[in-house]
Amino acid sequence: MEGRLIVVSNRMPLGGAGSGGLVVALHEALSAEGGVWIGSEEAEVADDEFHRHEEDVPYEKLTFTLDADDHAEYYLGYANSVLWPLCHRRSDLIDYEARFRAGYDRVNRRLAEMLTRILQPDDRLWVHDYHFFPLAAHLRALGVENRIGFFLHIPFPNGSDLLALPDRESFPGWISAYDVVGLQTQRDVATCLEMFRSDVDAEMMLDGAIKHDDRLVELRSFPIGIDVEVMRSAAGEGEGGADTRLKLDARERLLIGVDRLDYSKGLVKRLQAFGVYLDKRPPDAARATLLQIAPPTREDVRAYAEIRDELERLTGAINGRHSEIDWTPIRYIHRQVPREVLATLFRRASVGLVTPLADGMNLVAKEYVASQNPDDPGVLILSRFAGAAEQLDQALIVNPYDTDEMAQAIEQALKMPLEERKMRHESMLAEIEAHDIAWWSSQFLRALEGRDVRNRQRDA
Ligand code: G6P
Repeated sequence: MEGRLIVVSNRMPLGGAGSGGLVVALHEALSAEGGVWIGSEEAEVADDEFHRHEEDVPYEKLTFTLDADDHAEYYLGYANSVLWPLCHRRSDLIDYEARFRAGYDRVNRRLAEMLTRILQPDDRLWVHDYHFFPLAAHLRALGVENRIGFFLHIPFPNGSDLLALPDRESFPGWISAYDVVGLQTQRDVATCLEMFRSDVDAEMMLDGAIKHDDRLVELRSFPIGIDVEVMRSAAGEGEGGADTRLKLDARERLLIGVDRLDYSKGLVKRLQAFGVYLDKRPPDAARATLLQIAPPTREDVRAYAEIRDELERLTGAINGRHSEIDWTPIRYIHRQVPREVLATLFRRASVGLVTPLADGMNLVAKEYVASQNPDDPGVLILSRFAGAAEQLDQALIVNPYDTDEMAQAIEQALKMPLEERKMRHESMLAEIEAHDIAWWSSQFLRALEGRDVRNRQRDA
């Protein structure tokens, strides 16, 4: 009989929505597949038991606890002050202390040990994201032979950045302890293969798998998707119902950006580009208002406090220069906004701005497309560094470091004729419908299934 699907991620929303693409995607995948979702929960004292949470969802929710030291060292420390900047090509922002590494190791070992107590022989384990790179290696060391897949939601670190990782030596072994490693894009797969190519202990197999530490691991890209229908109906209902309280006057056009307030999202360059556009815009052009929603995230990490200060300064400066008595060009919201409201806002926005400096996929780009009215769609401006750019080539693709180019793209988007907008939108919508969230999880799980057979044949 088919075993359970057990999903592990650090973040799991308890009693409400969380922010970030991962939790939305996993909720949708587990709602379709059923299974168990294991995530972290803060507690005064960490123990080594799973805690069950009763919620009205079609899968089970279990938590493992993190105490204040775990939170500071494993989550804020190693995961978000070392691995996050490293994978987002910002090694200059790495803030490393030896206790971070110890905390990351401690939490991963504890979780591995807890998992051995609940795993049944046919269970499939699907581990998510950089918080758990070494989890499978710890499980294998404890004798676990179950199928274990890993999906990395953020970019795979490139070779020179990896040199800054305190665990550089162990890293390839962490990866090869999994049966299947899923990455967002072809570019990520190429980067990961590059790491193994320069590793004398790794061998490339004919079927494309990697043999390392006497294990076979399959590396593939599985671009993560969204539930198009959920977004579309939220946006459609909004037109008739959900009140966003947004009032635009007849001469006003809306541009929207929605990102956690993270330095990888390119927010400073985006606002600067909008400032350049405002500087150059002809006097008779429609008023362009940028609604930037940037919910707080990881605020105890220094780099995040700095980016927040910078953004507030810049917003004030641009608004001071361009506001009129009856118009403020940048509306900046530093709070979480419910998804239904976002969908409605996306549909009303003539332009969606998704301009990260580095990003695994970026589901906001896909949500913006799904929310549009096909008869009068808005235009997506998309960074070439977002994973989504590999699929959404009918967006206006920009270099997020080039503020002039982005300002021109804003102008082009605001002037784009209806026929061209429809043609671009139709092509992008077809792509996100063909590769939606259900496609993503079923493709990954099918690959995990196939890999298992091959690893067992090898063992036999
Ligand atoms: C990204 C990561 C996720 C993370 C999310 C929110 O999407 O890939 O793993 O959950 O950001 O970040 P947070 O630190 O709040 O969980």
